[in-house]
Amino acid sequence: MSATTTDHARANQPFLEKHYHLLRRLHSLSGIFPIGLFLIPHLTTNSSIVWGDALNAKKYADLGAGGAGVATFQHEVDFIHDLPALIFVEIFVLWLPIAYHAILGVYFARSGKSNTERYGYQGNWRYTAQRVTGYIGVLFIFMHISSLRWGWTYGGLMPSFDADAASSTTAIHMQGGIFPYFNAIFYAVCVSALVFHFANGLWTAAITWGLTISRQAQQRWGAVCAVIGVGLGAAGLTAVAGFAGLDVAKAQEIEAKLSDAAAPLLLIPAPATGSANP
Ligand code: HEM
Repeated sequence: MSATTTDHARANQPFLEKHYHLLRRLHSLSGIFPIGLFLIPHLTTNSSIVWGDALNAKKYADLGAGGAGVATFQHEVDFIHDLPALIFVEIFVLWLPIAYHAILGVYFARSGKSNTERYGYQGNWRYTAQRVTGYIGVLFIFMHISSLRWGWTYGGLMPSFDADAASSTTAIHMQGGIFPYFNAIFYAVCVSALVFHFANGLWTAAITWGLTISRQAQQRWGAVCAVIGVGLGAAGLTAVAGFAGLDVAKAQEIEAKLSDAAAPLLLIPAPATGSANP
């Protein structure tokens, strides 16, 4: 084929085919930064409902048993909500990269294209699991963000979130709804699936970027990814169990105490003596 015929054929290729390698690398990158990097503090923060109780027990001793976990999680949520220009960060650092990763991920999964076949990965059970957990992830993340962030309740299936009563409303989200504890089970399954997706994605990303060429390098990196996956999985499941087991009435009492303590003192002017008013 002459150079002009090749150029012509290339010019007529659909956009996704023409820029396949660039889009594929951006897809791989977006899974790690920002989405994967967000997952680490997100799951650590959520599990503070459990570790906050142990670590901050002294600091919040006046709140009584279980108070430190509720106060720690509330503190973390307040910190996030006080960030300047939060909505722009959410849109450009989270929601758009997640949408890009999800849409391209579905396209790659359906077209069966992979640049990892050379490494004997395609026949592997993890190749299939990566695709299945990707589909689960798209469904979960959409329902999760739309429910907790945009207030959609899915006809009462997913009770929404109130940042001023962070622990009690997250616990109601997990325990309540039209099918009690359905969300806790749904979360346990989906969080495990997403953590696998991230840890396995880290492993394949190193191949995509040409960082692990030899089988030994892939095995070594595989061990690191497994440790990351187990750690994140433990944090995620601890969070789910912590909210699923939280005493909602008690959490609400603690949140009321916390908001009373945070309320600014109202300075009511003392009535003037000898007032001219009748
Ligand atoms: C362990 C179970 C999880 C719990 C308890 C949980 C809890 C929450 C809460 C309470 C919010 C609302 C935050 C706020 O408005 O301040 C939120 C938002 C969000 N969660 Fe999760 N989450 C969990 C797992 C996950 C997983 C596995 C992902 C996967 C990436 C994820 C991604 C997100 C995203 C992208 C947002 C929107 C953040 C924003 O727009 O500010 N979550 N989550």
